Amino acid sequence: MPKAELHIHIEGALEPELIFDRARRNGLTLPYADVDDLRGRYQFTDLQSFLDLYYTGMNVLRTPEDFTALTEEYLTRAARQGVRHAEIFFDPQAHTSRGVALETVLDGVEAALADSRRRFGVSTALIACFLRDRGPEEAERTLDELLAHKHRVIGVGLDSAELGHPPADFARVFSRARQEGLRLVAHAGEEGPAEYVWQALDVLGVDRVDHGIRAVEDTELVRRLARDRVPLTVCPLSNVRLRCVDSLSEHCLPRLADAGIPITINSDDPSYFGGYVGDNFAEIERELGFDTTALREFAVNSVEASFLPESERERLR
Ligand code: HPA
Ligand code: ZN
Repeated sequence: MPKAELHIHIEGALEPELIFDRARRNGLTLPYADVDDLRGRYQFTDLQSFLDLYYTGMNVLRTPEDFTALTEEYLTRAARQGVRHAEIFFDPQAHTSRGVALETVLDGVEAALADSRRRFGVSTALIACFLRDRGPEEAERTLDELLAHKHRVIGVGLDSAELGHPPADFARVFSRARQEGLRLVAHAGEEGPAEYVWQALDVLGVDRVDHGIRAVEDTELVRRLARDRVPLTVCPLSNVRLRCVDSLSEHCLPRLADAGIPITINSDDPSYFGGYVGDNFAEIERELGFDTTALREFAVNSVEASFLPESERERLR
């Protein structure tokens, strides 16, 4: 089933094997005995407990080649699971804040994206996310830096620790990004309340909501998302692993889909959450009993919710 992946953090595709490989190449010592020791620590209690390991893990990424290797590994795995188009998030501030230049990240990632269609059969676009827990002023400075490379990204997003960092705080930087012609997305309603989803829609004016699952707690909001056909990029395995839902069989995604919201299925941080996008499809089929027609609809939604121009969507239908 051809599909687009719309919610994938490239730094979250960093597999433990590559962490060790890059640490060795860059002369870094890791505080883990081996790959199994590291993977054994991927037991999360909430979003923050994941973010702590996520930001530590990416510390081995120093050179353009590190980012190229990471991106090539993701594209290889995604292609094997039927991804034909990927809109890939990256976190500029997670690198610039530790002395790795934005150019290093962009040059490295783009070296893999450049021939991705030919090598992997996957078209791509990049979305730069602001780290909400570093505040709106730093997000504005990050946008300034990004605008020097405007042609290299299709849009901006908002991620990292959600609670206490509402979308409305980022009204100005999103408004500027919009004026620059960038597309807008934001994580909202993953751990945070439905109110944050309202703000993503009404204050930021996003094209899609990332996660958005807590919208299910607000009937009026569910009606709004369905009426305006606002896509949600749902990440089922992530939601279970970060304990945003108790179990996959109790996930609210059938309720959101039944209400008429365009739902897409995504992997979020596949190395940390135990599966790539095809694994997410397989798990929801098994645990939620979706039939082929329903699964196909999620795949079709992903193409329609993408930022691909109409002329390029045909390839994916
Ligand atoms: N939520 C918020 N920020 C993130 C995530 C996530 O699931 N993954 C990487 N950064
Ligand atoms: Zn995410």
